Amino acid sequence: MADTVTCVDDLQRLARRRVPKIFYDYVDSGSWTESTYRANEVDLGQLKFRQRVGCNVDMIRTAATLLGRPCSLPVALAPTGLAGMIHADGEILAARAAARFGVPFTLSTVSICSIEDVAEHVAEPFWFQLYMMKDRDFIVRLIERARNAGCSALVLTLDLPLQGQRHKDVRNGLSVPPKLNLRTLSTMMARPAWCARMLGTRRRTFGNIVGHAKGVTDTFAFAEWVSRQFDRTVTWDDIGWIKRHWGGRLIVKGILDADDARRAVAAGADAIIVSNHGGRQLDGAPSSISALPAIAAAVGQQTEVLMDGGIRSGQDVLRALAWGAHGVMIGRAFLYGLGALGEAGVTRTLELIHKELESTMALCGITDVADVGRDAIVTTAPVAASARPENACRLAGESGLSVIAWFEQLIRQGDI
Ligand SMILES: Cc1cc2nc3c(=O)[nH]c(=O)nc-3n(C[C@H](O)[C@H](O)[C@H](O)COP(=O)(O)O)c2cc1C
Repeated sequence: MADTVTCVDDLQRLARRRVPKIFYDYVDSGSWTESTYRANEVDLGQLKFRQRVGCNVDMIRTAATLLGRPCSLPVALAPTGLAGMIHADGEILAARAAARFGVPFTLSTVSICSIEDVAEHVAEPFWFQLYMMKDRDFIVRLIERARNAGCSALVLTLDLPLQGQRHKDVRNGLSVPPKLNLRTLSTMMARPAWCARMLGTRRRTFGNIVGHAKGVTDTFAFAEWVSRQFDRTVTWDDIGWIKRHWGGRLIVKGILDADDARRAVAAGADAIIVSNHGGRQLDGAPSSISALPAIAAAVGQQTEVLMDGGIRSGQDVLRALAWGAHGVMIGRAFLYGLGALGEAGVTRTLELIHKELESTMALCGITDVADVGRDAIVTTAPVAASARPENACRLAGESGLSVIAWFEQLIRQGDI
C-alpha cells in the first residue's frame, strides 16, 4: 500500500478514511476562520523555484545538523498532542519511524504515550515539548522526567497562553477518551480497524499528566485540570527559570515576530521555531513563511532558526531553507501518514519529503542542502495570497464577491 502513495495528499486522503472523524478533524483544522491555517500552505506555494540547467547533479546531499545532531534531512517531527488517538500507540510509532529515518522526533506535553514509555521503546533520544502550566511543581517534575528519559532538547511552546478555538472540535464534542454517546460511537464504529487497535492498547489517556499531576487520577479530572492550568502570566523572565531546571538545549517555539526572536535569543534560546502553531492559535496572524525572512535576518546569525506551518512536501522544505530557515518541522504531514498507515505511513511521509527535496534540488542545480540560499527562488518576497490573481476565485467565493468584482477591486487598489 505504502508504495502506491505518491504524495502527502494521498496519505491525507487515506487518513480521512481510516481515522474517526472526531480525530481526523482535530488534525485538519485551524482556529476560527482558519485563514492562517490556509495561508501557511498557500503562501509557501507562491514561492517559485529558479530552474537551472547544465549543472552536474549526480550526487545530492540532504544531510544536515539540527541542534548539534546529524540528520538525514533538515526536518524534525513537530510536537502534536493526541497522536496516540490518531493511531494506537501513535507517539511510539512516529518516534520509531523518525529514529530509523535519522530525524528528530518531538513528544508533546499532551501526548498519549508518556515520556518514559517512548524512551523505553525508542533507542534514539528525542526532544520534549513543554507547555507552561500554573502548577510549577508539576513542571519541575516533568522537566526532570524528560531529563531522566534522555531527551536531548526541550522545546518550550510560548504561543499558547490560552487555547485557540477550533469550531470543528466544539461541534464534534472532542474529548479524550471520546465521550461514548450515540454520535461518537457511530463515528468510531465506522472505523473498525482503528477501534480494534485502540482496544488492543492500554495507552488511551494523557500519559504525561494523568497519575502525575496533583489530583489528576483519571481523564475526567484531567479535563478539569487542564482547563485552568495554561499559564497566561508567562513572560521572558520565566525562561531563565526553565533553563536552570533543564540545564540542556532549549528551543523556543511560537515566534512570529523579529522583536520576539531577539528576546528569545537574549533569554538564552539555543534555537527558535518560527511558528503560528499550524494556524491553530491566533487566526489572522501571518503565515510562517511570510514571517520567516525578517526573523532569520534578525537572529539567524546568532541562533538556529527552524520553521513550521504548511510544510507538505520536500519542495516546501527547500522553500523554507531558501527563505532563511536552518531546518523545518512537520506536523500534519506526519500525522496523515500515521493515521493512514501507522509507523509505515510516517516513514512514507519522510521518504516522500526526502525524494521531493532531492529532485527539486537537482532541478535547481543545487547539490548540497547547505548551499540552498535565496537565489533558489525567483520572486524577491512572498506575495500575500490574497493579492494573487490565481487565488481570486477561491477568495472571491469566500467573501461573496464575484470574480469580476474581485478583479475590479484589485485593479482599483493598484494590486494588478
Ligand atoms: C493535531 C495537532 C496537535 C498539535 N499539538 C501541539 C502540541 O501539543 N504542542 C505544540 O507545541 N504544538 C502543537 N501543534 C503544532 C505543531 O507543533 C506545529 O506547530 C504545526 O503542526 C505545524 O504546522 P503543520 O501541521 O502545517 O506542519 C499541534 C498541531 C496539530 C496539527
